[in-house]
Amino acid sequence: MLITEKKHGIRFAQRMSDLGTETAFVVLAKARQLESQGRTIVHLEIGEPDFETPAHIVDEAVRALKAGATHYGPSPGLPEARQAIARYVSETRRVPVDFERVVITPGAKPIMFYTILALVDEGDEVIYPNPGFPIYESVIRFVGGRPVPIQLHEENDFRLDVGELLDLVTDRTKLIIINSPQNPTGSILTAEDLEAVGRLALDRDIYILADEIYSRIIYEGDFTSILHVVPEAMDQVILLDGMSKTFAMTGWRLGWGVMQPTLAAAVAKLQTNSNSCTATFSQMVIPPALFGPQGPVEAMRAEFQRRRDAIVAGLNRIDRITCRKPAGAFYVFPNTSRLGVDSQTLADRMLQEAGVAALSGTAFGRFGEGYLRFSYANSIENIKLGLERVEAFVAKL
Ligand SMILES: Cc1ncc(COP(=O)(O)O)c(C=O)c1O
Repeated sequence: MLITEKKHGIRFAQRMSDLGTETAFVVLAKARQLESQGRTIVHLEIGEPDFETPAHIVDEAVRALKAGATHYGPSPGLPEARQAIARYVSETRRVPVDFERVVITPGAKPIMFYTILALVDEGDEVIYPNPGFPIYESVIRFVGGRPVPIQLHEENDFRLDVGELLDLVTDRTKLIIINSPQNPTGSILTAEDLEAVGRLALDRDIYILADEIYSRIIYEGDFTSILHVVPEAMDQVILLDGMSKTFAMTGWRLGWGVMQPTLAAAVAKLQTNSNSCTATFSQMVIPPALFGPQGPVEAMRAEFQRRRDAIVAGLNRIDRITCRKPAGAFYVFPNTSRLGVDSQTLADRMLQEAGVAALSGTAFGRFGEGYLRFSYANSIENIKLGLERVEAFVAKL
């Protein structure tokens, strides 16, 4: 019998049933399928800047390739790139960072995976925001940890409530994940929130994964990192950041973690066991990107702000939808609970009937029910077209 004729399916390892996913990619695939049938779709589902990577960064990568940067590199990253990140984090977070604390990964996402893999034992509890980036919960479950969601309330501007956090902490809490500015709500944590989380971590000996991937996309005031507020917690903090959102470089796969050197060595070992290293020529753009011209970063941020203002105003004009003005990232999380349709059905129907791709709030956990997430990483024209379509669709509900 040919192997292709085998009757039974794949006998997966048990752990695969615990692995979640990121729905944005699923919705994007559905939207592309509709487009292949001739439909026009307004894409407000995917979380990536629609801008091109700044030209001087692209030129640097081409130069690196032509100069022969086509080989393996060290697992934690190229020393000059780690040094540049250490300097950048020292300056932006105002803490002294040695390059031994830095691990460069293909995108920032692996930092979640490796950190949780390195720290969380079966039965250990991990507190994470809900609604929140779905990969946190997915990986916690995958390693056999106990996911403990902390609900983000709209009335609290989608910031975590420190009192609720205290109630969720037990002797088994190993890790707390925070994300500011936040995906999917665009909320930011205040200095007081961060101080409370940092003190809690110090008092109870808990690690913190601080996902700061949107640190440069902020509209109100300056960015506040947990390291600004509680620098003495530095050895318990794993800082996650990268190039994807700040420099419109999602496809380059460049991210990093900054952590205690012993943990950094363990994370590098996980990298040796999986992808060996991050692409060498890609890492070579890190120093010139972080310390070269920053004009394109500011231009993108300003354009996102214009779009945020347009989409928030437009959504609030639609009957039975209300939308808070987010302070960072490039997402809005409007309240759709008065439309009388659950969020998943609403997102599905909006795609099929109105040609607008958005995500159900529940793609970010169960506390996302009653909301949709729109990414405004699209042109003002497309955002306006999307809003017109949503308004006409909602009027018929
Ligand atoms: C909150 C959050 N953290 C991390 C990431 C991952 O970024 P990267 O593309 O660098 O892996 C994303 C991407 O959507 C995100 O929204």
